[in-house]
Order: sequence, then C-alpha cells, then structure tokens
Amino acid sequence: MCGIVGYVGGAEAVPILLSGLRRLEYRGYDSAGVAVLDGGRLATRKAVGRIANLERALSEEPLTGKAGISHTRWATHGGVTEANAHPHFDQSGKLALVHNGVIENHLALRAQLEAKGHIFHSQTDTEVLAHLVGAAFDAQDAESPEALVEAVRVALRQVTGTYGVAVIHANVPGTMVGARRGSPLVLGVGRDEHFLASDVSAIVAHTREVVYLNDHEIVALRGNGFDISTLAGTDATFQISRVEQGAEDADRGGYAHYMLKEIHEQPGATRDALRGRLSREEATAKLGGLNMTNAQLRDVERIVLCGCGTAFHAAMAGEYIIESLARLPVECEIASELRYRNLPMARGTLVFVISQSGETADTLAALRECRRKGHRVLGICNNVASTIARESDGGVYMHAGLEVGVAATKSFTSQLTVLTLLGLLLGRIHGLSCAEGMEILKALESLPDLVTKTLEQESRIAEIARKYAHARNFLFMGRQANYPIALEGALKLKEVSYIAASGHPSAELKHGVIALVSAETPSVCIAPRDAVFEKNLANIEEVRARGGPVIALGTEGDGDLAKVADDVISLPQAPEYLTPLLATIPLQLLAYHIAVTLGRDVDKPRNLAKSVTVE
Ligand code: AGP
Repeated sequence: MCGIVGYVGGAEAVPILLSGLRRLEYRGYDSAGVAVLDGGRLATRKAVGRIANLERALSEEPLTGKAGISHTRWATHGGVTEANAHPHFDQSGKLALVHNGVIENHLALRAQLEAKGHIFHSQTDTEVLAHLVGAAFDAQDAESPEALVEAVRVALRQVTGTYGVAVIHANVPGTMVGARRGSPLVLGVGRDEHFLASDVSAIVAHTREVVYLNDHEIVALRGNGFDISTLAGTDATFQISRVEQGAEDADRGGYAHYMLKEIHEQPGATRDALRGRLSREEATAKLGGLNMTNAQLRDVERIVLCGCGTAFHAAMAGEYIIESLARLPVECEIASELRYRNLPMARGTLVFVISQSGETADTLAALRECRRKGHRVLGICNNVASTIARESDGGVYMHAGLEVGVAATKSFTSQLTVLTLLGLLLGRIHGLSCAEGMEILKALESLPDLVTKTLEQESRIAEIARKYAHARNFLFMGRQANYPIALEGALKLKEVSYIAASGHPSAELKHGVIALVSAETPSVCIAPRDAVFEKNLANIEEVRARGGPVIALGTEGDGDLAKVADDVISLPQAPEYLTPLLATIPLQLLAYHIAVTLGRDVDKPRNLAKSVTVE
C-alpha cells in the first residue's frame, strides 16, 4: 500500500505534495513524510500518524524547494515510528527515496550492504533500496540525471518483490526518477512541471494529461520534459492519456463522517449503477462494457467471481444471485488464494474480478494469472482508469462515486447491483422468459426507493446500537445469499468498532459456534420472509434458548419474528435476490452507530488502509 507523490517544476513543491498526499491517505495513514530539493540542499520532514501531523510539522519548520517526493505509509516492515517513515536516505544522506511495495530480499541485501559498512536507521525494506541506489550512483563517475537513472536501474535489477518508487538526489537538482513493478505509478504531464503519483487523484487538480507507467519502466522527470525507458535499458513506448475524472469533492456534506454520508448515498449509487443498463424492449440488462456478444455470453459455461474483503463478500452473494437467475455454475474465490492456487478452469470459464479501488494487489495478481492462462477476465470496478480496469478485457463500472470511508459501504451495494444486472443478462440468455426478465427489471427499477425506505430505520438502529455497544463479541448469521451479508455485517463491525464479530450460515451455529452464545453475546440474525424463513426462525429459537440476545432483520410487519427476537429491524418487501442488498444497509448503520458510541475513528480505523496495494 502506501501512497507516493512527487513534483518537479517551477512552483513550490510542498503545497502540491501535501494536497496530493491528502488524496492518497486512503492508501495508508501510519506516517507521512516529504523530502524537498532546494538547489543542491536536500531537507526532510516526517511525522507519525495522519497527513495533518506532517502539515503541522511543516508549518512549524517550513521547507522550500521546487522538486520533492512524499509518502503516506501503511506499515509493512518495521513499526509505526518516525524512523520508519519515508522518505528514506542512502548512506551519503544525499539521496532520498519513497516506496510503495515490498522488497522481498531486503534481509539478504541489507546483510551485504552492512558487510560493506552501510549503517541503517530504520527497520524498513525501503531503506535497503535507498542504500542500493545510492551505492550504484556513487559507483559512477558522473553525477548526471542519466547516472541517477542508471543507478535506479542497477539497484532494481537486484531486488525481488514489488515497487513503485520515486528518487531525488542532492547532486542532481531538478530531476526526479521513478520506476514501477507491481505497484501503480502514474506520470502527470504539465506545462513546465511534472508529477509522479500512485494514483491520478493525487495530481488531477494540476494536470489531466497522464502516462500510466507499465511494470519494468523507469521515468526521469524534469520541469521541462521526461524520458521513459525500461529496466533493460531500452526506450519505452508510451501514450499520453487524458483523465476525464475531476478532483472529486471529498467533503462530508454535513454528515459527521464519510462512512455515514456514503451509507446515505446508496439510493443514488444504486440508481447510478442501474442507469442506462435496463432495456424494457428486451426485458434484460445491457452491459456494453463486457465487450462480449450474446452469442459469446451464451458459450460461457462457468463463472468465477473473485475479490478481497468486502468485494469477496459481494462475490459470494453474486454466486447465489447469478446461479438463481441464470442457472449457471458460479464459484467465488478469494483473490489472494486464487493467485497461488492451480485452480482447474475449463474452457468456457469467464472470470470477474471485483474491486472498488481497482488497485488491490491480490486481485490484480489474480486477474493477471487468469489472463496468463488464457481466460477472459472482466472487471467490476469503481475507480475509473484504475490498474484493474485498464488490464481487464472489459467490465462494468459501479459508478458509486468517490468512497472515502475505509469501510466499504456504497461500493458493496453497487457491486451487488451490478451482479444482479449480470444475473438478469445471463438469465435472459440462458432461460428466463421475457415476462420473468421484465419482473426482475421492474424490481431493479424500484431498488433505489427500497434502499431509501431501508435507511428510514436509522434512528431505531442507532437505539439498538447504543443498547449493545458494550458487548465484547457479536455473532451474525444468515442463510443462502444472506450468509455473505452476515460475513459483511461482521466485517463492518470489526473494522470500525474493533469488537470481535463473526458471520455464519445460520444452521452452522449448532456445529460449534453456539458455544459462544451467552447473555453478553448478541446475535444478529438476517431472517426475511423467504424460502428459508422457518429454518431461520428455528435457529433464532436455539440462540434464545441459551439466553443469547437476538437482533433480527426481517420483512416489515413480521409478527412471528417480533415474538422471538429482542429487537427487530424491518426490511421492505422485496424479491429474494434483492434482500441481501437491503439487509446490508442496517448492518452498516449498526456498525457505524456502535463505533460512534464507542468513540472510534470511524473513517480511518486503526491498522487499516482503504486500498491494499501489497500482498
Ligand atoms: C472493506 O470495508 C475493506 N476496506 C476491505 O475489505 C476492502 O473491501 C478490500 O480491501 C478490497 O478492496 P477493493 O474493493 O478496493 O479491491
């Protein structure tokens, strides 16, 4: 993970770097730092914690200079300390480097360098890379931009692992060198100024002209130009793209937290995910971005849905939804497992990778592995022009809008909306009649209103949250497509409140987990009026019989549920394939209000980052 921003040009670097870092804080917020070149003088400031702490340090001791690099860290190697914060320096102290990724052979390299007299000041893998580049630079006769590029090239040939790096050297003022392998890096092309960043959002306020660097490429940036070459030393071909996305406004719109704002944005987000994708003439969904004809879709025999965390829960729910609507076999895979697994995938398997950010390292690696095997891989992404969106063979954008809260909320329901559209499209190809298709289409059209109606439960949910906020453990349960929703509810609660929580298929409780049931452990049971309602009711009775408090999510007006549960949250009447999406919303609100009651940092929970760009 981690985020990098670099600048070289005619303006003061620090304000540009700080505004870029603020946009990249979703990539980590353990510590932050900058290094700025003022002529031949290299100076740095670092701070543990949020970018705000670095801003404070810089306001107390300002830095000036027209070239600089900066970093926001999510700790991998070495604790959260100022010494481990980037930038890191070489042995001479004249070269500064920031890094996103993991240098896997850092221990062996560190030992070799120490044997040569190098002294390290941090526990990071990155400092080893800084020393390697510095040593390669010092070994050359010249102190030129070309020598710095060559030093980066020589050093990177020695490392294994992943990196996006930016480097400056006091003796090469006005030049910055960047390189990538496995971690994203984008070059921003301005007028007499150039930028480097982990993500376009960090630089889009300054330029819309960008070059997405490829793996194994090295770029040398000056105010008045740039050169891109390969790690092998040959010139690289590149294309300047125009970014359409603006610097989206990231204000909280009057809400106390982004998470709450984003929960309330779900009626609009689901509407945007559906917009222009429902065809009443053909009673089906239209997903042109798949880049596949109906005939090609007809040949699909099996679907694999893949993602991490919340996106994986969407995949799990998608399995139920697509199988029930399209009668096609679907399997879901955790991306970090899929990438190293030799999953037998027959011809006719279509892979979807699901990722809000489009930058998750494991999901990207799974995509590459499946494509390498010759499969068509489609993306379901929110972040337009993200690496996953660019590397997939096509896909469907979520159109959820910017999601700032680390806990994914609206992106999850947008993913479920897209997966339901996919179920409708494939269903209409594989056997759903026109009338059945039209019924699903109409239900989807009503979805944003159903989401609005579900949100009306908020004050009731906030009351329930206050009642149970001090429990040390929660159980979540549901059946069929609501089982992944139980997992997602538990994940949301863990992420933002730090309370232990686990999700289970309702009937599995009696196979062991029921040992956890006690008066102090609330169970959240998703039990809408569906084909398995009576079964869920029986499971709730089992929990009640052991003195466990039950918070039930059920269909509005359900008197039977009210008799057995301590607290009931109502879901609007809806077809079975839409209840998982609707049931998610109260669970998001429950997690949010419990976290607020406990005084947690809801939008930036401890130890987390929004986008996980290391494996
Ligand atoms: C969800 O609340 C988490 N922040 C996390 O599980 C997230 O969904 C996961 O890291 C995948 O991210 P992506 O959708 O950006 O790939």
